[in-house]
Amino acid sequence: MAIYLDNAATTFPKPESVYQSVDTTFRNLGVNPGRGSYRLVLDAGHLVLEVRETVAGFFGITDSSRVVFCANATEAINMALFGILKAGDRVITTTMEHNAVSRPLHALTMRGVDVNRVQADADGRVQLSALRETVRNAPGPTRLVVLSHCSNVTGTVQPIEEIGNWCRREGILFMVDAAQSAGVLPIDVGAMGIDLLAAPGHKCLLGPPGTAILYVGRNLQPAPLIWGGTGGNSMSLLMPEELPERLESGTLNTPALAGLRAGIEFVNRMGLPKIHRHKMALLERLRRGLGNFPGIRCYGSTCAEHQGGVLSFNLEGRDPAEIGFLLDDEYGVCVRTGLHCAPDAHRSIGTLPSGTIRVSPGLFNTEKDIDALLAALEEIIGS
Ligand code: ALA
Repeated sequence: MAIYLDNAATTFPKPESVYQSVDTTFRNLGVNPGRGSYRLVLDAGHLVLEVRETVAGFFGITDSSRVVFCANATEAINMALFGILKAGDRVITTTMEHNAVSRPLHALTMRGVDVNRVQADADGRVQLSALRETVRNAPGPTRLVVLSHCSNVTGTVQPIEEIGNWCRREGILFMVDAAQSAGVLPIDVGAMGIDLLAAPGHKCLLGPPGTAILYVGRNLQPAPLIWGGTGGNSMSLLMPEELPERLESGTLNTPALAGLRAGIEFVNRMGLPKIHRHKMALLERLRRGLGNFPGIRCYGSTCAEHQGGVLSFNLEGRDPAEIGFLLDDEYGVCVRTGLHCAPDAHRSIGTLPSGTIRVSPGLFNTEKDIDALLAALEEIIGS
């Protein structure tokens, strides 16, 4: 049986209740919500509304119609950036972003959007003072600040409450990529001044792949990224003005959304503090164990308060890809190595071109899994 320590890519396994919800919904309510008016369709629509409300409650969103379901966080981020930004707008982002943010922003520069980056510190943390400086030195006004809450490379947590409230005071829109934090760290869009929030359902919210959400703040009306059927006002060739329909063309994945609700309920039952503590305890055990090996370099902050569920490290003189291969091939340990789709973050912490070895425990990992990883690394280093 493999030891899976790549929960930053997707959490696996899921709680039993998630599998059961998907299966039950698929078997009993496998119709198309919002398409037709017979009872099963209405029941499916009701289920989707309940999931929307569960998501809204989880992130402190007061109007669940502002929760848009997407296929993944990348789609949610694209929907927000392409839906909101136009030529002449300025965006400030950071040197720690995933390609899910960096690539759409790069594509938008071809359409006349200006992009500036705030340099993170050595731990990968973005200080508000550095952000303020970047905004102040920019040649024009800033429309949007966008950053990831928790780096998928270093696990560094950004001070989003501080940044969001500053953005709100300055009249700058604030967008958060919560790919690694949703389901680990508390997020409240109102208290944190968040106007746009993208979060995957399949990572720490414990839902199935193919689920994600975009929260769109009350004063925003993004242009659609996809045009098509929404189940109503079919005579019009225009997309509806109302959310979520405006951004939700085509058939929703109802069984997966039922699974997402079960995942969030599981997280709610366990509580975010306990989840964060569990991951931090395992990563601390790993960090301590790694400290006994020669030539180890860990990245990110050593302060648990500033860390999410990821630890990246390197072994001096060894290629991370080779270590990842040996861990998998000889010891059945699954970790992700390389650039983790976030070359900017690696440039920022000095780990280009080969990246790092990344360990991301999940709720179901135990100390035994970390000890097995450490024992495997000891043998690999000795060999
Ligand atoms: N972005 C995901 C990761 O960091 C897939 O592995």
